[in-house]
Amino acid sequence: MSKLVYGIDVGTTKIVAIAGRVIDGRRGWAEVVSVGEAPSHGLRRGMVVDREAATESVAEAIEACGGALRDGRGSEVSVGIAGGHISSYNTEVTQLNRSRDRLVTERFVRRLEAEARQAELGEDESVIHVVPRSFVLDGTEGVRQPVGLAARKVTMRAHVVSGAISTIQNLLGAVEDCGVKVSRVVLEPLASSEACLLDEDRGLGVALIDIGGGTTDIATFMRGSLTHTAVIPIGGQSFSADVAYGLKTPFETADQLKLKYGTVISKEIDDVAAIRLGEKHYNARFVSQILEYRAQEVLEYARDSMDEAGVRDLLPGGAVLTGGGSLLEGMDELAEKILGMRTKIAIPRRVKGNAEPVRKPQYSTAVGLLYFSAKNDDRRPKGKGARATSFGSIVTAVKEWFGFGV
Ligand SMILES: Nc1ncnc2c1ncn2[C@@H]1O[C@H](COP(=O)(O)OP(=O)(O)OP(=O)(O)O)[C@@H](O)[C@H]1O
Ligand SMILES: [Mg+2]
Repeated sequence: MSKLVYGIDVGTTKIVAIAGRVIDGRRGWAEVVSVGEAPSHGLRRGMVVDREAATESVAEAIEACGGALRDGRGSEVSVGIAGGHISSYNTEVTQLNRSRDRLVTERFVRRLEAEARQAELGEDESVIHVVPRSFVLDGTEGVRQPVGLAARKVTMRAHVVSGAISTIQNLLGAVEDCGVKVSRVVLEPLASSEACLLDEDRGLGVALIDIGGGTTDIATFMRGSLTHTAVIPIGGQSFSADVAYGLKTPFETADQLKLKYGTVISKEIDDVAAIRLGEKHYNARFVSQILEYRAQEVLEYARDSMDEAGVRDLLPGGAVLTGGGSLLEGMDELAEKILGMRTKIAIPRRVKGNAEPVRKPQYSTAVGLLYFSAKNDDRRPKGKGARATSFGSIVTAVKEWFGFGV
């Protein structure tokens, strides 16, 4: 029987623990065996702010998922990370290959990755991912798989993602306090990308935008490689908070109004229409104007971040929206207008097994984490530099850089 693997998505509004059985370890694919969920406490904008509360929430989700994860025997557990402390950039490193036969080896590629990790960082920051994008071999551009080719001078172009050590430590602490050993930490938009995007999308050029409760996470791909990542500290909770402020109602009321009637295309709402919650009536146009304003802001941030990275004009595959926030009516239409690209809403793809509970945009990250755990060669991409660009060595066990060893 094939191996069981796990993912834990510690979201701002909910924690999802997911267990799956590996179907294809080479491509990173698993069928869902069980899913456990619990409301999230102790998190703000994707980050743990109350460890005890967060631990309790994670424990509840793990309990609901059951099996080996609950008994502390689960191996291959991926945990997602996001939050405003994440930063990312593209870099390149060059080394001379001094081996006698001139052949580029896996070890040599690993040395390049290690050098990319040495990038200048703040004191409290550490590298989470080094994702090789392409290689230049003795001046020849665009090499995807350098291993086995001969070259003296090798340049690796890579996307580097870093985060605050203490923030990552707090996240790991909350999960490990539940008796679970975390094997890797994955940037949430990369996990969502695994669940929602096809290789064809990534080949063409596509942006994944995960609008969660606390953050909106972005990952863009071109020619199959990751080109840009960003985490915007605005999510569905900000939408509800704005409505609460505008209507002078409690957050919960505003949140319910949003879930029940939320739309971001205010001009389509009759300006005398009323929406009702309990005894009270609210002006529908006003509510949608508040939501539209916030949605516009988030999407403008997304657009600007892609512009700053110089990638927005290079995404013929358009934008793929996921996460609970993408469910606001009209979000795709507004995104098309603001981002200037074709946009669709996505739920996790390729899901097999007990798939029903995860067929919603809120579960993209959890399913993606499961796929990351299923991938069996991530830490040692077997000589395929290019595979690492789409999936493989995107993942890094945080413990590696905590010095715990892997
Ligand atoms: N039908 C809906 N219409 C509008 N908003 C929705 C809908 N369903 C869920 N949401 C919103 O989506 C948000 C939760 O999304 P999601 O579950 O993806 O976030 P999360 O993973 O908990 O948070 P994060 O990823 O930011 O840490 C909430 O703010 C919720 O109000
Ligand atoms: Mg999320």
